Amino acid sequence: MPGAIYAEGLVKTFGDVRALDGVDLDVPEGTVLGLLGPNGAGKTTTVRCLTTLLRPDSGKAVVAGLDVLKQPDAVRRSIGLSGQFAAVDEYLTGRENLQMVGQLYQMRAKAARARADELLEQFHLADAADRTAKTYSGGMRRRLDLAAALVVSPPVMFMDEPTTGLDPRNRQQLWEVIKQLVSGGTTLLLTTQYLEEADHLAHDIAVVDHGRVIAQGTSDQLKARTGGERVEVVVHEREDIRAASALLDKYSLRGPGKGDTTVEEHMRKITTPVAGGAKLLAEIIRELDTHGIEIDDIGLRRPTLDDVFLSLTGHVAEAGGEDEGDGERTARDAGGRGHRSSKEAAK
Ligand SMILES: Nc1ncnc2c1ncn2[C@@H]1O[C@H](COP(=O)(O)OP(=O)(O)O)[C@@H](O)[C@H]1O
Ligand SMILES: [Mg+2]
Repeated sequence: MPGAIYAEGLVKTFGDVRALDGVDLDVPEGTVLGLLGPNGAGKTTTVRCLTTLLRPDSGKAVVAGLDVLKQPDAVRRSIGLSGQFAAVDEYLTGRENLQMVGQLYQMRAKAARARADELLEQFHLADAADRTAKTYSGGMRRRLDLAAALVVSPPVMFMDEPTTGLDPRNRQQLWEVIKQLVSGGTTLLLTTQYLEEADHLAHDIAVVDHGRVIAQGTSDQLKARTGGERVEVVVHEREDIRAASALLDKYSLRGPGKGDTTVEEHMRKITTPVAGGAKLLAEIIRELDTHGIEIDDIGLRRPTLDDVFLSLTGHVAEAGGEDEGDGERTARDAGGRGHRSSKEAAK
């Protein structure tokens, strides 16, 4: 029995560009799928096909139990869509925007108004309810856009890069709202360029590249495949390097003595690949302490999107230019694109 969102062999070409090259997806009811991929991977095209905005050249899609190609109108009534191409009317106030959506869905004026007020409150927009959307910041617009998609509480939601270009605070706020939403049982397909975001919100992650799903699983499963989780320790005293290195090696992923623990003498830094997260980190700290090894720094380094991509595809996810232009994109790379950790992950 297919899930609330199901796709099989979706193909979509634009001239020479094979935007979708056989996308398969199956999202169980009440769960969140994160569609993770770099710019141009085919995320938006997938969402547009599943939401009836675009007709695939071939393949099959079922959403909320309805055939997307044969029953597009019914599908539209069962879904909410928010993201890059959803429209907020600049010249209407926040409240008017939401009321308009309600009326579009044939709600009575009074009910539409009540629903609008409820959403404005929930999305921290009550204070700005009577200002035109034109005056909103990028983060506020995203929230209004998301609120608009929720006016009629659809059973299936699609969000196309809901937080791309937002600063960390706005991103966090939006995550909270999204989590609330899915705790109510909504099935959600969310696209993102940030592993951290998929990690935070999604039950399952499908990694897309060149119009195909190249890997799927929980975030832990993907990270395990990437093999990129590492503990890094910087010891205070140079003479502790050997002892610390031997100690850390006991925790290395493939077991001790496999040569997986590396030492950078000049930095007094020891690195070992692990699987076990924060709990293991705490244990290592205790062990170091027990052995009287003083440390300057210790940390768990998780794979970044770069690492996951490099390991799965052999190429680095390119940072792309999105179209935000609202002054809030400074932090768009905060999700961990910067460091060239990829090389190490590929070893
Ligand atoms: N309307 C279109 N016309 C021509 N090419 C398109 C169109 N939409 C998308 N593409 C191309 O299809 C590929 C996938 O695009 P898209 O689905 O937007 O990727 P993503 O959302 O993952 O960034 C890209 O190469 C893009 O340039
Ligand atoms: Mg896109």
